[in-house]
Amino acid sequence: MSKFSDKTRVLTGITTTGTPHLGNYVGAIKPAIEASQNPSVQSFYFMADYHALIKCQDPKQVQQSRLEIAATWLALGLDTDNAIFYRQSDIREIPELTWMLSCVCAKGLMNRAHAYKAAVADNEESGNQDPDKGITMGLFGYPVLMAADILMFNANKVPVGRDQIQHIEMARDIAGRFNHLYKSQYFTLPEAVVDEKVEVLHGLDGRKMSKSYQNTIPLFVSEKKLQKLVRKIKTNSLEPGEPKDPDTCTLFQIYSAFASSEETEAMRAQYAEGIGWGDAKNQVFEYLNAHLAEPRERYNALMEDPGHIEAVLQKGAERAREEATVTMERLRDAVGLGRFI
Ligand code: TRP
Repeated sequence: MSKFSDKTRVLTGITTTGTPHLGNYVGAIKPAIEASQNPSVQSFYFMADYHALIKCQDPKQVQQSRLEIAATWLALGLDTDNAIFYRQSDIREIPELTWMLSCVCAKGLMNRAHAYKAAVADNEESGNQDPDKGITMGLFGYPVLMAADILMFNANKVPVGRDQIQHIEMARDIAGRFNHLYKSQYFTLPEAVVDEKVEVLHGLDGRKMSKSYQNTIPLFVSEKKLQKLVRKIKTNSLEPGEPKDPDTCTLFQIYSAFASSEETEAMRAQYAEGIGWGDAKNQVFEYLNAHLAEPRERYNALMEDPGHIEAVLQKGAERAREEATVTMERLRDAVGLGRFI
C-alpha cells in the first residue's frame, strides 16, 4: 500500500504545552530520536497541537510552545529525512477521522477515561453541584482524537508513558469496532510500548519533574539560569564529610540520567566519601552545561529562524498527508461518503 509498509511503524505525539525540560528529554525525546535511527522502523513524530487546545486557550502560549518543541527536537538531532516530523494540525484529515471514529465509539468508553474521571472526581470532592463543571467536549473526547492520530497512520507501536496506556487500549477498541462494523481490516491495532528502562526524572523538589508541579529544569535555559536551577535541587542537611545515599538523591538521579555508567559509578564513590552538596551541585552543573552547550546553541539559532522550522514541518506534513489523503478517501468510501461516480 505504501512505501513504508514493510517497516514497523512507531508513532508518538508530544502535547505542545510548556517548554521542554530535562525530564522530557530523558523520558521521551532521547529514546525517540534513538529509535528513529533504526532502519527497520518508520517513525512518525508529531506535535499534538490540537490536543494543546484542550488545556490552553492562550494563543501566544500555544504558538510559542509549538515553536520551542519543534526547535528542541531539531536541535537535539532528529533526522527529519528519516523520521516523519509534523504538526498534527497540518493534517486536516485527522479531525475528519476523529469524527468518523466518534460515531462508532461508545460514550461509555469515554466515561471510563482516567483524565475525565479525575476531573469529575475533583468536582465531586470540591462539592460542585455539576460533576461536569469546567469539562469540555475536547477533554471528554480526547482519547478519540488520540485514536485518530494513531489509526490514521496504522501505527504498530506507540511509545508512551504509563499514564497513556489506557488511551492506546481505547484506540485498539475503537479500531476493532470500526473494522467490525465496516467488515474489513481498515485499521491496524496499535500496541503501547512502555520502556521500563526509561527513567522518570525527578524535579527540583524531588517529585516527578513536571510542568504542573513547576519543578522543572528547562533544557535550554542560559548557562547562568541552569546553574541557579541546579543549586535549587532539594538535598538533605548532611554536612561535607558525611556519607550520602545516591539512590534517594534527585541530584544524583539527574546526573546519572546523562552520565555514562563509569561516570555514574565515580559519582557514587564520591557520595560514599561524603562529597559536600555545594561541590556535588557544581559538578552536576558543569556536566550538564558541557553536554547541553552545543544543542543549546543550535536551539537558539533555530528559534531565531522560524522560517526554517516552518519549512521542515511543511515537508513533514506533506509526507504525512500523502498517506492521510489516500487513507481518508478509502474510509469515506467505507462509510458511504464516497463520490457518486
Ligand atoms: N496524549 C499524549 C500525551 O499527553 C500525547 C499524544 C497525542 C499522543 N496524540 C498521541 C501520544 C498519539 C501517542 C500517540 O502524552
